[in-house]
Amino acid sequence: MDFDLKTLTLAGAAAEKCDALVLLVADAFKPGKDPLSRLAADALKAGDFEAKPGKMLQAYRTAGVAATRVLLVGCGDGSGKRVQAAVQAAVGAIRSSGVKRMVVCLAADAGDEAVRAAVAATAEASYVYVSTKSKPEGRALQRVTIAVADTQPRRAAFAAAKAAANGIEFARELGNLPPNVATPTRLGEEAKKLAKAQGLQCEVMGPKEIAKLGMGSFLAVAQGSEQPPRFIVLTYQGAAASEAPLVLVGKGITFDSGGISIKPAAEMDEMKFDMGGAASVLGTFRALGELKPAVNVVGLIPTCENMPDGRAVKPGDIVTSLSGQTIEILNTDAEGRLILCDALTYAERFKPRAVIDIATLTGACVIALGAVRSGLFATDDALAQALLDAGDAALDPCWRMPLDEEYAEGLKSNFADVANVAGRAGGAVNAAKFLQRFTGKYPWAHLDIAGTAWKGGAAKGSTGRPVGLLFEFLLGQVGSAAAKPKRQAAAKRK
Ligand code: BES
Ligand code: MN
Ligand code: ZN
Repeated sequence: MDFDLKTLTLAGAAAEKCDALVLLVADAFKPGKDPLSRLAADALKAGDFEAKPGKMLQAYRTAGVAATRVLLVGCGDGSGKRVQAAVQAAVGAIRSSGVKRMVVCLAADAGDEAVRAAVAATAEASYVYVSTKSKPEGRALQRVTIAVADTQPRRAAFAAAKAAANGIEFARELGNLPPNVATPTRLGEEAKKLAKAQGLQCEVMGPKEIAKLGMGSFLAVAQGSEQPPRFIVLTYQGAAASEAPLVLVGKGITFDSGGISIKPAAEMDEMKFDMGGAASVLGTFRALGELKPAVNVVGLIPTCENMPDGRAVKPGDIVTSLSGQTIEILNTDAEGRLILCDALTYAERFKPRAVIDIATLTGACVIALGAVRSGLFATDDALAQALLDAGDAALDPCWRMPLDEEYAEGLKSNFADVANVAGRAGGAVNAAKFLQRFTGKYPWAHLDIAGTAWKGGAAKGSTGRPVGLLFEFLLGQVGSAAAKPKRQAAAKRK
């Protein structure tokens, strides 16, 4: 889908030939003398339409308007959230009418937030999964113009929003693929292909190399599957090589059966989405490659299946992680932390400015926060705040959770340095405490996206979250990354 940004008055918009013109009407709407203004003003006066969120009025072949359809959509205070909801509703309403060319007119005083929300919501609401349908219908919408009063000050936000939308869509598509297609091998191939197309560096390791590295915990999860594991290392260098990178670590379980601690049958198909963290890292790199911001980022993806088998890891097995810590695997369904811990140790070699892991880690996080906010855990307050702010700005929000030492109590083992599970209570925090043991060498944050990476039920499908959050966060790191680690190093020397 093509997006463009255009300077248009409402009079200009009325002359714009397209299949659908979406006019966002905010509380502060001031009608002019053009046909669109008249239409909106008449409808408002007659009470057929209100500027309130959730209100919509459709018109067909309206006098003085070149567009075939006009949709008036209320967007209240004009905030990003309101624009998002309004555009989602409009795109939903025309979804089945085969609209190819759409113009979205933002309010005269629309800022970056509105532009970003309009692009994101259009892409999100018009997405159609096609990969494994025998008669794919595809997305009708082909060209979308975002009309604003003055394009110049909105250009940067618009370009970032387009890159983010493409990254989100890439993550969604990967997430939606069935688990017999989206195997660890396929994820490795996708990473290679992406790297080639976007000018990134990419290394994909197989079982032998992973064993040679000493990732005994990751391999323990992989050993129950016929599908060989992959360890993907992606590098995006947008700033000087001397600048410490940010490292993203994505959980890439392409199917989580639970292993020997097997899951119940109901909704087990949804465990194909257990590579949502990995998909979000790939999607973020897609966006980085397109926009090319001045920041260095490394992506690490441990990916494998979690399956029951004669060779599978058993409850009670003890393995040695890359960090040297031994782990008693009491529940093979707590596998995400077992593959992540080795990648978190591997991250040390990049001397990172910060490491953020992204994982569909616990059902407990779904109970705690539902599908609205991802769970955020962090050992560094500034990093936590930056991620919270990025989530709010990108309309991909998260919520900070605690990391008190007491939560680690249940992870004690009589036979190894640590157990991979604690009690059910506080399950999302227990999991984070397990991961924290492997992150002592850098500022660290963990995003538990178990509730946000996909939707179940009739709207079953990947959401592409938290690509929006991650990309927004990384853009916020441009410029600020250079000086800080050096200053810290200097301080330490004294
Ligand atoms: N991938 C699951 C987490 C999950 C479960 C996400 C349901 C979304 C919906 C993870 O590997 C898992 O199975 N976690 C266990 C941990 C438990 C055994 C300590 C869980 O949450 O039940
Ligand atoms: Mn599991
Ligand atoms: Zn899992």
